[in-house]
Amino acid sequence: MAPPDKRLFRCGARCKDRGVEPTSTPAGEAHDLVSRYREVRAWTERLAAPLSPEDQTVQSMPDVSPTKWHRAHVTWFFETFVLAENEPGFSAFQEQYWFLFNSYYEAIGPRYSRPMRGVISRPGAHDVGRYRSNVDDRMSDLLDRVDEGTLAKIAATVELGFHHEQQHQELLLMDIKHVLSLNPLRPVYAGSPAAATPATPLSWLDFDGGLVEIGHEGSADRGGSFCFDNELPRHQQWLASYRLADRLVTNGEWMEFIADGGYRRAELWLSDGWGRVNDEGWCAPFYWSQIDGVWFEHTLHGTWPVDPTLPVCHVSHYEADAYATWAGKRLPTEAEWEHAAALQGPQEATSPPRGSDVSTETWHPRAAGPADGTLRQLFGDCWEWTSSAYLPYPGFRPAPGAIGEYNGKFMSGQMVLRGGCALTPPGHARASYRNFFPAGARWPVTGVRLADDGGR
Ligand SMILES: [Fe+2]
Repeated sequence: MAPPDKRLFRCGARCKDRGVEPTSTPAGEAHDLVSRYREVRAWTERLAAPLSPEDQTVQSMPDVSPTKWHRAHVTWFFETFVLAENEPGFSAFQEQYWFLFNSYYEAIGPRYSRPMRGVISRPGAHDVGRYRSNVDDRMSDLLDRVDEGTLAKIAATVELGFHHEQQHQELLLMDIKHVLSLNPLRPVYAGSPAAATPATPLSWLDFDGGLVEIGHEGSADRGGSFCFDNELPRHQQWLASYRLADRLVTNGEWMEFIADGGYRRAELWLSDGWGRVNDEGWCAPFYWSQIDGVWFEHTLHGTWPVDPTLPVCHVSHYEADAYATWAGKRLPTEAEWEHAAALQGPQEATSPPRGSDVSTETWHPRAAGPADGTLRQLFGDCWEWTSSAYLPYPGFRPAPGAIGEYNGKFMSGQMVLRGGCALTPPGHARASYRNFFPAGARWPVTGVRLADDGGR
C-alpha cells in the first residue's frame, strides 16, 4: 500500500493552524504528532460519552452509521494506513475488523455491507473501546520510537488520519441526531438552547468580478497547511461581479416560504426536487414537525418550538434552490463563496472554540448577531449549499493507491457545500474546504446563503 502523495496531503505547517511555532526537529515533530493524536482521539470519545451502548448500535437509515462503527472505523484507518506498513511485527488487533470497518476502500479488500452496519451487535461499544485503546498505545509507541526516515514517510498519513477522524466526529453527531429523531420519547443527546437574540435584517455585500484564484494556496515547499486533495490545485476562474447575503436564511423567512406555498408550487422547483417533494411528502425542513399548529424542531438538545431568528437547517439542495427562486435570487457558486470568504480573512475557519464538556454546547446553528459589514455565519453554523456540482478542479490527480479513493471517486452526482456547521470540530474547516452531498440529502446540517448577480 503506497503512502499518500505529500503533494496532495500537506502537513508542513500544521502547527501554524494552532498558533504554535512549528517544531523543527524529528523528535519535536513526533512529539507534536503524539500530542495532537491524543487530542483528536479524546474528542471522539467525549462526543460518544453521552451515548449508551444501545444508542451506539442503532443504524436508522443506510446513510447513517452507528456511533460505535464511527469510533472503530477511524481506528481502523490508523491501523490500516499507518501501523500495517510501519509497525515492526505488525499483527491486526482482530483480523475480522479489517472487513467490518473498511468503509469504501476497494484496494484494501472486501467489506461488510454499509446498510447492514446496524445489525452488528458484536463487537459492542465496550469492545470498540478496547480496540481504540490498543491502536492508541501502538500509535504512541510507533511515534515515540520513530526514526527520521519513517517519520517523513508517515507524517502526512497521520495528519490525514486526524482530519479524517474530525470528519467522522461531525458525522457521528449528524447520525445520532437522526437516530434519536425516530424515538417518540424525544431523547436529548446533550446541551441546551442558546439564549434568544433579536432577529437582524439581511444585507447584501458586493464583490467585484474578474480573474480570480480559488483552491488551497499552501505548498509543501512553502510550508503550506493541510488540505484535502479535492481542494487542489489552486487555479484561475473568471467571475462576473456578484453579491452575497451577509447572513444565512432564517427559520422565520423559511416559514414565509412555506406560507406562500413554497412546497406546493412546481414552478419554483428543479424537476428532480419536485419529484422528491411529491414522492416523500416534503412540506418543511427535515426535522420540523407541526403540533397543534406550532412548528417544532428536533435538535441534539431536544425538541423545541422553531426559533424564527436561527438559521434554517436540514434542507436539501433542492429546497435551497427552490427558496432562492422564490426569493428572486440564486445560490452562490463555490468559486464566488470561496473568493468572498478568502477576501474576508484567513483561510482557516474561525468557529468558536468548544470546551471539553459536551453538555455546555448547543450543538445547533446560532443566530447571526448584529450586522458588521462582513459575511456573518461563514463557519460554524450551517454547511451552505452552492450551485456547483462536485467535480475535479482542472489538473486534479488522486493520489496513487488506496488513499486515492478518499475523495476523487465521489466526484459524480453530488453538490458542493462550503463553510462548516455547528457540529464541525473547531479549526477543521477553511475557505477552500469542499464538502459534498447528494442534492436530496437532508440529514446533514445544511443551510442557505442567497446570492445575486452584481451591477444592479
Ligand atoms: Fe472514513
